[in-house]
Amino acid sequence: MKIGIACDHAGFDHKEKLKEYLLSKELIVEDFGCYSIESVDYPDFSHELCKSLENKKNIFGIQFCGTGNGINMTANKHLNIRAALCWKEEIAQQARLHNNANILTMPARHLNWDQVKEITDVFLETKFEGGRHQRRVEKINKI
Ligand code: RB5
Repeated sequence: MKIGIACDHAGFDHKEKLKEYLLSKELIVEDFGCYSIESVDYPDFSHELCKSLENKKNIFGIQFCGTGNGINMTANKHLNIRAALCWKEEIAQQARLHNNANILTMPARHLNWDQVKEITDVFLETKFEGGRHQRRVEKINKI
């Protein structure tokens, strides 16, 4: 499974740990930055991650900023990106089951590493339920 990861400075530490964790599970990881705790602008990194999903280079994305909000809003500007802001396992599970989310966004400043790991595992292990949720997901882009 190919996964892209991205963050801003607030999410750098979690993103680095996550990269090691995903690699240890023998997943293929593409890191879109940022690469230090120096202050940066989260859209610069999220847009690159989203483009890699749009180009089908990566199947899923995982991204962090401090609250998760800014980077999540950015990703959801992309037409076929469904980024879900998840701060507990149940939300991550339903984001996959019901929303077919393709990006997991987490609020780095509000989660410890164990929580990040658990939320990530649930997100990657859960399959989209389809059925009535397929119809709803298809309506998301119909504005
Ligand atoms: C950076 O200080 C912070 O604003 C950012 O990480 C994020 O929380 C924005 O939504």
